[in-house]
Amino acid sequence: MPRIIALASPRTSSKTTNAAWLANALHARGRSVKAFDADLSHQLTDWHAANAWPFPVFGAASRQAHKNIPQALAGDDVAVVDVGHIEEHLDTARSVLRVADLCLVNLVPTVPDVERLENLPLSGFLDDVNSLRDEDVPVRVLLTRCQPSTRATKETRDHMTDSGYPVLSTVIPAVQRYAQTGAGFPLDPAGSAHDALVTELEKAGLL
Ligand SMILES: Nc1ncnc2c1ncn2[C@@H]1O[C@H](COP(=O)(O)OP(=O)(O)OP(=O)(O)O)[C@@H](O)[C@H]1O
Ligand SMILES: [Mg+2]
Repeated sequence: MPRIIALASPRTSSKTTNAAWLANALHARGRSVKAFDADLSHQLTDWHAANAWPFPVFGAASRQAHKNIPQALAGDDVAVVDVGHIEEHLDTARSVLRVADLCLVNLVPTVPDVERLENLPLSGFLDDVNSLRDEDVPVRVLLTRCQPSTRATKETRDHMTDSGYPVLSTVIPAVQRYAQTGAGFPLDPAGSAHDALVTELEKAGLL
């Protein structure tokens, strides 16, 4: 069965960067990857065109994403979907999440980023999405662009866990290797945090 993984956040976090690395890490593990760009900025599409990644990227910034994405999948395909800011792409985000098998909430562990998640509010958005589904969408928080062992990262992990949102053990550190992701920058997922993320998701049966 195809799997659909959506990377979401209320505002800029690291979604496109993490979608690029996760898709490449999955491909390097031999998975059949199809990436989807559900952000009107087209950034993932542009990076794909410039970097010749060995898997396709399809446009999906539409309120019909819940129809278009599954139609493009077959067999054991894994779809990695870069969802634009939920704040500004609400209809598209809702549409993608209707059919997602996993919602990775990308969260930079800072007070303002947690505030934007709570002001959305994430709970209301997910209630809305889940009212359109047979089963609730599985949600995991991915702490990203962070200093892994700082108090801010630990406190954000504890806060989100206490709020009922499971937080992945794997975190994506703030490092130049990821900051430089973009057109013209070759991307080698070997040894990346995203490769570790694939391992964690597989072990948890989420992939
Ligand atoms: N792990 C990281 N370490 C350092 N910098 C990062 C990391 N991840 C992303 N960045 C940087 O953070 C900025 C935002 O990243 P990105 O464009 O991937 O976010 P986004 O969530 O897709 O934003 P938007 O919603 O605006 O499309 C970029 O400048 C990117 O290079
Ligand atoms: Mg983006």
